[in-house]
Amino acid sequence: MQSIAEKDLGTPARLSAKTVTLSIDDREILVPEGTSVMRAAALAGVAIPKLCATDQLDAFGSCRMCLVQIEGMKGLPASCTTPVAQGMKVTTQNKQLADVRRGVMELYISDHPLDCLTCPANGHCELQDMAGVVGLREVRYGYEGANHLKAEKDESNPYFTFDPSKCIVCSRCVRACDEVQGTLALTIQARGFDSKVSASQDNPFMDSECVSCGACVQACPTATLSEKTLIEKGQAEHSAVTTCAYCGVGCSFRAEMQGEEVVRMVPNKDGHANHGHSCVKGRFAIGYATHPDRIIKPMIRAKISDPWQEVSWEEAIAHAASELKRIQAKYGRDSIGGITSSRCTNEETYLVQKLVRAGFGNNNVDTCARVCHSPTGYGLKNTLGESAGTQDFDSVMSADVILVIGANPTDGHPVFASQMKRRLRQGAKLIVADPRRIDLVRTPHIAADFHLSLRPGTNVALINSMAHVVVTEGLVKEDFVRQRCEVDSFEKWRAFVAHPKNSPEAMESVTGVPAESVRGAARLYAKAGNGAIYYGLGVTEHSQGSTMVMGIANLAMATGNLGREGVGVNPLRGQNNVQGSCDMGSFPHEFTGYRHVADDAVRHSFEAAWGVGLLSEPGLRIPNMFEAALDGEFKGLYIEGEDIAQSDPNTQHVTAALSAMECIIVQDLFLNESAKFAHVFLPGSSFLEKDGTFTNAERRISRVRRVMKPKTGYADWEVTQLLSNAVGFPMNYTHPSQIMDEIAKLTPTFAGVSFELIDRLGSVQWPCNAQHPEGTPTMHVGTFVRGKGKFLVTEYVPTREKVNAKYPLILTTGRILSQYNVGAQTRRTANVQWHDEDRVEMHPHDAEQRGIIDGDWVGIASRAGETVLRARVTDRVQPGVVYTTFHFPESGANVITTENSDWATNCPEYKVTAVEATRVAQPSEWQKRFREFTNTQEALVKQADVFVK
Ligand code: SF4
Ligand code: SF4
Ligand code: SF4
Ligand code: FES
Repeated sequence: MQSIAEKDLGTPARLSAKTVTLSIDDREILVPEGTSVMRAAALAGVAIPKLCATDQLDAFGSCRMCLVQIEGMKGLPASCTTPVAQGMKVTTQNKQLADVRRGVMELYISDHPLDCLTCPANGHCELQDMAGVVGLREVRYGYEGANHLKAEKDESNPYFTFDPSKCIVCSRCVRACDEVQGTLALTIQARGFDSKVSASQDNPFMDSECVSCGACVQACPTATLSEKTLIEKGQAEHSAVTTCAYCGVGCSFRAEMQGEEVVRMVPNKDGHANHGHSCVKGRFAIGYATHPDRIIKPMIRAKISDPWQEVSWEEAIAHAASELKRIQAKYGRDSIGGITSSRCTNEETYLVQKLVRAGFGNNNVDTCARVCHSPTGYGLKNTLGESAGTQDFDSVMSADVILVIGANPTDGHPVFASQMKRRLRQGAKLIVADPRRIDLVRTPHIAADFHLSLRPGTNVALINSMAHVVVTEGLVKEDFVRQRCEVDSFEKWRAFVAHPKNSPEAMESVTGVPAESVRGAARLYAKAGNGAIYYGLGVTEHSQGSTMVMGIANLAMATGNLGREGVGVNPLRGQNNVQGSCDMGSFPHEFTGYRHVADDAVRHSFEAAWGVGLLSEPGLRIPNMFEAALDGEFKGLYIEGEDIAQSDPNTQHVTAALSAMECIIVQDLFLNESAKFAHVFLPGSSFLEKDGTFTNAERRISRVRRVMKPKTGYADWEVTQLLSNAVGFPMNYTHPSQIMDEIAKLTPTFAGVSFELIDRLGSVQWPCNAQHPEGTPTMHVGTFVRGKGKFLVTEYVPTREKVNAKYPLILTTGRILSQYNVGAQTRRTANVQWHDEDRVEMHPHDAEQRGIIDGDWVGIASRAGETVLRARVTDRVQPGVVYTTFHFPESGANVITTENSDWATNCPEYKVTAVEATRVAQPSEWQKRFREFTNTQEALVKQADVFVK
């Protein structure tokens, strides 16, 4: 069902420069050519009855409710499928039309339960509305004889119900699954009276290919497909537009509310990143905010073996501040630091780095982007001049060839994946470079032209060999390079990649990819017309992560694939605000907008605004903090909304460092893995409880709007402010909009950004300033941000992480659709019904050699540690490679990852760990210790009355 607040114009907009004038019920209207009569009428303020049409889907013309009369045309054409024509004269209301519509409606209602008063759709049902509109007063056919009224409900999906007794077989759900989501899980089975909606081969939804995106639920005009929360709670009474707090797509949602309670989340049709679509996480998985594990009161303790003590906010803040001051007095100014969060808002992140730089007096601030996309920042800044992706998501609709490297969009960025799949179904070509056969390689109506199944750790060898083909086969866009790039740097790079050692043939033994496939893929991309590159953590989380990002930028520049729609270099950011947390100055060496702390002019501007002297030397990165902690020099850490004990590599090293500190302050929703080592717990607020902004992977800044009061009493930005005041650096904001105003004042790329502007435009992509007052959808148009694009030589240096007789397999990691990152939120929702444990995927050949069958417990040992996971035997992975997700702490995926990291940014090499796998019968030693420690820590908090009720 459509949301309470949205208007439906019946058919999608048409983007034609040519316009047509017509008259509808004597009203003149000018619309783009190709527009349907139904949409033109809606735009003219004339509502034509409809059932099978919606502006989210192509017209289908099955229900016959929307018939109209058109002068000079025979019969009664369907307005949804009839395009406008110049001078057309349309009549939408007269007796003949009313009679026909009433007759159609009568037939529908004769096979529909008349339980409107108790139906969850009551008041918001399009069938009910249309029955009213056509003036249905009686149904002459009765309910005797064959009907569908006793059809059984399918309740298998945890989030929505399918009640076929209410289905009018309009096919909107089927089309939504096909056109919007691209999963094609639904069909209309059989014909005529027997026709019915069926998931896969007439399976329950949970056993079908359905990925629970909810597009069909949203499209259904009746209560056949309904959210269970809507059935349980009833209709919402008000709504507010906000932004999803899960992934970097940044979908816009309308939170439909009853008082302080969310009834359902409905994707916002006007959302610029998602255009009314969503995935299972953003639409349905929000129950974590009220999960009984959520802690809403502050707590302190002297030692991590002590029970937690509930205290007032005043006491918690005073204690935290006095501990931080005590540590600095004893161990020196640099003995404390802070970690900002990519889940919190821009304003909150900005305040944490401000607190560290101005309040703690050092630059020891870092963010979780350290462990994901820091190489993106480094690589793109040095080649193109800006540390961010170059396009908006809609740009993919103009791409002719899409190259996906080290990303799994259908799981990691599902709504963008749906858009990409739409473009691929329209005929764009696809190249996938990934060690694993991700879903995109073959999915309904889509098959990758090339799947370059490279060995983990050999990205740079692959990109160099693709570049070799481009430069040696005359595929360079010479004009673009001469006009837009530093020619010297290009010539140096050209000579480097042209060297025979970089040829696909020479590199085949390194990458494992047949040379002919590399040549074919390189030619396809270079000759594309518009070639667009999308990449993910499979590019960055390597010892050569930054090199690979530069290699990608080199390839895009050499082929002229930058600076316009349909092309570009696009990092798919992981967490909701990872772009924003980087933009906001979370790295130890940079202020907001990626400006170095050693830049005197920049630093002085912050000193003047904040009224305090600032250091010109970069502070500690997260791995340096751990080292310094183990050396006894780093003793206090304020962590807002991150779980470094689960997400950072080499868990045993991280927990040893945390154990060596004297005061760890964790601000979070749950007692996460890091909080188990903490001395102060400051309860965090969910995205529903605060105002602010998130910035998605397109540099799009969108509003987060408070729809309920913070359950803890304070939003996260207020807590940071309290702490700052307590350590002696005053902050006096009364609303996050003031924080954004300060960011805008101090940051050239944000100069034009304000809450008022975002509210007016819906969202805005930075840079937003005097030159680009309404933002910048496409970067580097005409000229690169750094002036001339710079090619950098990208020598392939194999990782130190080598397979050998003891560790003969390579472990690589990734994500799954239903879970998110460390799983703290999604594990506390019904999403566990799709994924309740991390498994290790293993090729049948490797499994057989080790006597392992599907479901066996498998010990995975690396140079760093050992863990145990259950096996999934599959040929999705290549022989010699094993793969796992990392959403459950007890899986210990990071117990086995090593401390190897990117040479430029220290981003950990999560994607390459040499391991051995053996069949085992019990958990690893680490897992036993983990369980024991978790039980102890849970017992230490159980006595405190701090949980949400
Ligand atoms: S929930 Fe999404 S994937 Fe599942 S049937 Fe509906 S549209 Fe298709
Ligand atoms: S389930 Fe809803 S959308 Fe699908 S055919 Fe039935 S009434 Fe139409
Ligand atoms: S695609 Fe990402 S932003 Fe959109 S609903 Fe899903 S998790 Fe949220
Ligand atoms: S709305 Fe046009 S035929 Fe159904």
